[in-house]
Amino acid sequence: MESVLEVNMRKYSIRIRVTNIIGLNAFLQTKMKLNIGLSYCNTVIYIVLSLATFQLSYAQKLEHSHDGNIHSHEYADLDSLMNRFAEHKLLFPSNVPDRIILNLTEDPTTSVAVNWRTSLNVREGIIEYAEASHGPEFRSEPFKIMAKMETLSVSRENEPIVKANYHSGIIKNLTPGKKYVYRVGDGVNWSEWFQITMPGKDAPISFVYFGDAQNDVKSMWSRIIREAYHTMPDIDFLLHAGDLINRHDRDIEWGEWFHAGGFIHAQVPSIMTPGNHEYSNVKLSPQWRPQFNLPTNGVKGLEETCYEINYPDLKVVSLDAEQIDESPIFRETQAKWLDSLLTYNPKKWTVITFHYPIYSTKPNRDNVKLRETFKPIFDKHKVDLVLQGHDHAYGRGTADNVATGSSVKSKEAGTLYVVSVSGPKMYDMTYEDSWMERKAENTQLFQVITVAEDLVHYKAFTGTGDLYDSFILKKNGKKPNILINQIPDTPERRHPKK
Ligand SMILES: [Fe+2]
Repeated sequence: MESVLEVNMRKYSIRIRVTNIIGLNAFLQTKMKLNIGLSYCNTVIYIVLSLATFQLSYAQKLEHSHDGNIHSHEYADLDSLMNRFAEHKLLFPSNVPDRIILNLTEDPTTSVAVNWRTSLNVREGIIEYAEASHGPEFRSEPFKIMAKMETLSVSRENEPIVKANYHSGIIKNLTPGKKYVYRVGDGVNWSEWFQITMPGKDAPISFVYFGDAQNDVKSMWSRIIREAYHTMPDIDFLLHAGDLINRHDRDIEWGEWFHAGGFIHAQVPSIMTPGNHEYSNVKLSPQWRPQFNLPTNGVKGLEETCYEINYPDLKVVSLDAEQIDESPIFRETQAKWLDSLLTYNPKKWTVITFHYPIYSTKPNRDNVKLRETFKPIFDKHKVDLVLQGHDHAYGRGTADNVATGSSVKSKEAGTLYVVSVSGPKMYDMTYEDSWMERKAENTQLFQVITVAEDLVHYKAFTGTGDLYDSFILKKNGKKPNILINQIPDTPERRHPKK
């Protein structure tokens, strides 16, 4: 915040530049002209602002610490100081919980996983929860859960070390269809109460699927997740198909991701599958497991990246695509695990998500190893929907059994493949005649998917909330699903011609 105060004068004038820091966030800059013979009121203003000047000189030289890590910052100018403090809010934890997020558990109709972050000063985490009430009475006797805690220290070259305690817990034995409230804290410092609705046992399940957010997440992805929430507030979960951020361990980027979603992350449970940008040299982001609380029921060694979720009529599976690409062992173990899982799958609908596409939007982005290993498993078990990212364009269609990225359709398995992007980074698409029944370039999208008994409704919306693609999948006994296309009569979006 910048404020300029001018006190008019008649004769002699002094110009004083005053800057005050209130806490770490507010920034007041005042230029003041003073006159000999000031009124009483102006004298008071002068004294206050003079004290503020003194605080500035103290603050600029202040050596300070974040959890015992004593250091000082040097600021070349005041603008830089202001920017650094703005960044502090997203980067450094405090005693008050931040980066609060809900994740799905393996049984999402009766439980939900909670995760948050604090400074190292906070040594214990508590989750309080209760059934929601019309008024404030829910807060009188909430249930309490003590959270697990782990400490994480991350640093990148030329960036501050960020140390934080991460807290996690699972709220269990909830009743399907009921509304609850919860908050997190340490007994002194608390979050607000968040309200959540558990899915009903036989109710339709709706979720939003996001392709890569990845770049300019605070600046450019925030409107997409917010528009998605505005379009469909009654969603059961959010699904992120990898590359949530750009550099796997850069804490400010994770800070931006949490900032962009704000309270939505704390109110709508998420699942996420890692992309190549959550990895570096086949090493998972150090923040991933501390900051999320995802299922660990998949392949051993790939906890919280390869897992399954089970609703009454729907199975959702996350595969770790980077490990499929880089590790022959994890490629094989994930393939065996998936084949066995789907062999004994009683669910009506199966949705699988992973980052690299089986069918790409560009020939030079073909993922041969992935397709050769996994497409036969999808075909064998008639997987319904495959949700992917990575190509920074949109493509949706059915595919054949021929092992190329572009060819005629056979629809024998009825599997629908989607590649999407939600962030601002955009790639060209060079396929003209391909597997894609609807495609787009240069378009940020989110998809709303509803699973209701024998039908899946799928709608893709652009960043403005306009419908871009739509279809219905209908169960057809043991035969492939019936696909009912409902593509809007709007032109295919391409990059503007240069
Ligand atoms: Fe990627």
